[in-house]
Amino acid sequence: MIKQIKKYPEPVLRKKCEEVEKITEEIKELIGDMKRMMIENKGIGLAATQVGEEKRIIIIMTKNGPEAFINPKIISKSKKTEIMEEGCLSFPGLFLKIKRPSEVEIEALNEQKQKIQLKTQRFIARIFQHEIDHLDGILFIDRLPFWQKLKLKIK
Ligand code: CO
Repeated sequence: MIKQIKKYPEPVLRKKCEEVEKITEEIKELIGDMKRMMIENKGIGLAATQVGEEKRIIIIMTKNGPEAFINPKIISKSKKTEIMEEGCLSFPGLFLKIKRPSEVEIEALNEQKQKIQLKTQRFIARIFQHEIDHLDGILFIDRLPFWQKLKLKIK
């Protein structure tokens, strides 16, 4: 059972995750742990690297509660962007205004192994983009203009 969320600069946060080929009992257990960890830490999104697992799995807080998305991909994004404040459970207390596309289309597998496509907007689109970035080792600080990142004094 996973007990702690990895905090920056733990090296695993920079790892590129592998696709999940089969939803095994182990994967189901990991998903259960991730949902529990996200709720315990009052998060609205969590990626597997944040619990030390290099697997392409994210948890998103939806209107139906926490849901897992496996091998999620952004298949299209809007040209329109917007700036919103983001936090991250791996950077406690840090909130940054980040510019991202305002709408994205997502393809993923759900926990029932069904392929799903979702059109997301605004806040939910934001969470998906932040979490999918984590699966490629990209953190929200990397989305700042470089001069703003310099001001943060973190690498
Ligand atoms: Co994060």
